[in-house]
Amino acid sequence: MKILAIESSCDETAAAVIENGRKVLSNIIASQIPTHQIYGGVVPEIASREHLEAVVAVVDQAIKVSGCTFSDIDAIAVTKGPGLVGSLLVGVSYGKALAMALDKPLIGVHHLEGHIMANFLEHPDLTFPFLALVVSGSHSGLIWVEDFGKYRPLGQSRDDAAGEAFDKIARALGLPYPGGPAIQKAALGGDSHKYDFPRAWLESDSYDFSFSGLKSSVLNFLNQCRMKNESISVPDIAASVQEAIVDVLAEKAIRGAVAEKTGTIVLAGGVAANGKLRERLESNEHGIRIISPSLVFCTDNAAMIGAAAFGKYERREFEDFSLNASASLAIFA
Ligand code: KG4
Ligand code: ZN
Repeated sequence: MKILAIESSCDETAAAVIENGRKVLSNIIASQIPTHQIYGGVVPEIASREHLEAVVAVVDQAIKVSGCTFSDIDAIAVTKGPGLVGSLLVGVSYGKALAMALDKPLIGVHHLEGHIMANFLEHPDLTFPFLALVVSGSHSGLIWVEDFGKYRPLGQSRDDAAGEAFDKIARALGLPYPGGPAIQKAALGGDSHKYDFPRAWLESDSYDFSFSGLKSSVLNFLNQCRMKNESISVPDIAASVQEAIVDVLAEKAIRGAVAEKTGTIVLAGGVAANGKLRERLESNEHGIRIISPSLVFCTDNAAMIGAAAFGKYERREFEDFSLNASASLAIFA
């Protein structure tokens, strides 16, 4: 059973062919990062236009590399939200056109559901239920995953997501977009205990995340240094910021897993690529197994959309041609 999946929610135009929800026959990603780096972040209109230019070639390449032809494809999957609406519309429209032309079912996938299900691509032994720490550029959350399509949120972003905090702080430090990998790299030579930036633990029983206080604190600190003409150590600040973010993510994820009595935490989303976060979680004292996708399946890709679409295909959850893109789609809807 082969799914052709398309992902275009932000600044990567991606297409993949996935067999039986697990086997990656192709995974093509055209990244717009070099374009957006000039502006220090994603410019939505430019992103939409670049998707429009790239999508046909990216899909053709995914078919070619998979060794299939369009007639071997059993279903078309697209990311329907959340994300930048202009970007999403390109993938949704092209996916609809393909499904109509090939007379195949159309499957709409929630982007975060894709990030979670990416873990099935490389961990065939992974089984439901598990706890997922979902950390991307627009979302931080702890989600109890009972089965395909059955989610219970333990905690969610109250303001800036973890990736957003990395990106905004990196920009203030003069580091390139995307900020997460740039901060991780800059932190290598830094002292992670040099600055005690705030950790928002929130109420003692809360699994919600808040990173806007950390962001404001770092921006204020940088402004004060500038006003006093004091020099700053980018590696020390980067290492201390990374430490603050990892402390909160890891502590809440482990606490959540212990409370839910689960032996498995699954990592998902771009921030799951962070080496320090993986290290910290893997060294937990409770013997909790940490499952994470390899780096290419952490950040945006279409293979993960194909993996999530497989669960919907099995349940015959298909879309009709009125499918629209949704910038703020809830995973629990
Ligand atoms: O999942 P993703 O590719 O796109 C969204 O769905 O948002 O996540 C992108 C986010 C960006 O904020 C980026 O800075 C962050 O993931 N990121 C990282 C790392 N690699 C990507 N954050 C921390 N450490 C990394 N190594
Ligand atoms: Zn993503």
